[in-house]
Amino acid sequence: MRRWEVANILFGIVGRSFPAADPCASTDRMTETRHLVSIDDLSLREMKALFLKAREISEDLTGWAGLCRGAITATLFYEPSTRTRLSFESATQRLGGGVITAADMRNSSASKGESLADTVRVVSSSYADILVLRHPSEGAARLAAQYSGVPVINAGDGSHEHPTQTLCDLYCLWVEHGHLDGLDVVLAGDLRYSRTIHSFAYALARFGANLVCIPQHGFELPEYVVKRLREEFGVEPIRANAKRLGDLAASSDVVYLTPQKPHQLSLFTDAKGKAQDIQHVHAVYMTRPQTERHESGSEETSEYMRLGKKTMSAESLRDAVVMHPLPRRDEISADFDSDPRGIYFKQAASGVPVRMALLAAFLGKIDLFDSEPRPAEELKKGEADEVCCSKETCISNTEIRHADPMFKVASRVPLRVVCAYCSTEIQIGAVGCRTTRRWHLPTSQQLKKVRLENMAFFADPAWAESKGFQLAAESSPISSDAAPPVP
Ligand code: CP
Repeated sequence: MRRWEVANILFGIVGRSFPAADPCASTDRMTETRHLVSIDDLSLREMKALFLKAREISEDLTGWAGLCRGAITATLFYEPSTRTRLSFESATQRLGGGVITAADMRNSSASKGESLADTVRVVSSSYADILVLRHPSEGAARLAAQYSGVPVINAGDGSHEHPTQTLCDLYCLWVEHGHLDGLDVVLAGDLRYSRTIHSFAYALARFGANLVCIPQHGFELPEYVVKRLREEFGVEPIRANAKRLGDLAASSDVVYLTPQKPHQLSLFTDAKGKAQDIQHVHAVYMTRPQTERHESGSEETSEYMRLGKKTMSAESLRDAVVMHPLPRRDEISADFDSDPRGIYFKQAASGVPVRMALLAAFLGKIDLFDSEPRPAEELKKGEADEVCCSKETCISNTEIRHADPMFKVASRVPLRVVCAYCSTEIQIGAVGCRTTRRWHLPTSQQLKKVRLENMAFFADPAWAESKGFQLAAESSPISSDAAPPVP
């Protein structure tokens, strides 16, 4: 019997039965509870429909008090927040609902050692109709979704994702430019630890954007994000010629991430892979150093990049809007605030109508979601003898009592899997088949014949052999770039 089945028996006598679902079971995605864990959980059509609704709402913010009357939002914030929590709470109240909040988890039973899973079980039982969660561990929202009987909205999980911030960012870009297809966007600052950047980059890639990465030195996009952009969204990193970006790019290596299939609207796509000449930018997205998540706690940020009037005088940035998820420190000078290109306070203001539309959709009060089933993810629950996620702050490591390791297949041949919670790549040296008791290299074509649920993942062949697996007779490695990734 699985842990959540035990939980259902133990807790099912009160309120809803939970947790919602075995994440690896085959489910009818038409009827399951929907969550917003990643920006990938919304289709492009759903995002556009959301923006239309948010714009309608923004025209009369006080005119929607009957839409979600009586609904209760629980805001569980294990990390500080101003914009996200307060805009969700304002949005709920403007929709006619009520809010219960644990704004400082030091004053909740988390301080007594209560797990996230248990907290979610309790709050989603009869206390609230929707949960909004911010947590320092990557994958926390995904775990919460497994244990919740009501929709869970990720309000930021470690350095992983912040999908509702991305919705606000995209909404503002859409309002400014009238479309989202094929925009040219500079991502600047701490690209490594900024979850808003990661969700934003995934979404922009899906809209066919060219991304110009100008990281603070040492804070480049994580490898797993670049891999994902390349393998799942068809984006190719290219060296950029950034002379036209002026001092913004002066102290940093500039990388240009462009769709492999050049799109009509791109201003500077070069399919031959030459260094791209950046000419005209639609938006500069600046981020602060995310010091609270810096791993050693002592990363050098004293020379952090600054953006102000002088930087924005570069010719290529003449029509670019300047965005920032806030809070800011010194990375955007206050003297730039009066420049009409600075839209960072508009981004913060958009949080209320965008989150009103989102809450109404997830509470089932407006019809916004696609009617066709979403494609199922290839997920596999980890077993005790298998590898686990190497990221220490991943929820599968910080909440091991409740978070079984879970893997997502990023590519079938060669087999590449990532942690389903935090997207970190899992280093696999051998793949066992539990029915034949043979092991294969991850590059073996024979793995096509092994069902995912029968696979066992090992860090190296010696580990597989120590567990009683023997080398498969005809293991046939292939070149790692010989086969396309599974979309
Ligand atoms: N942008 C954002 O997430 O702000 P808060 O941390 O204040 O919620």
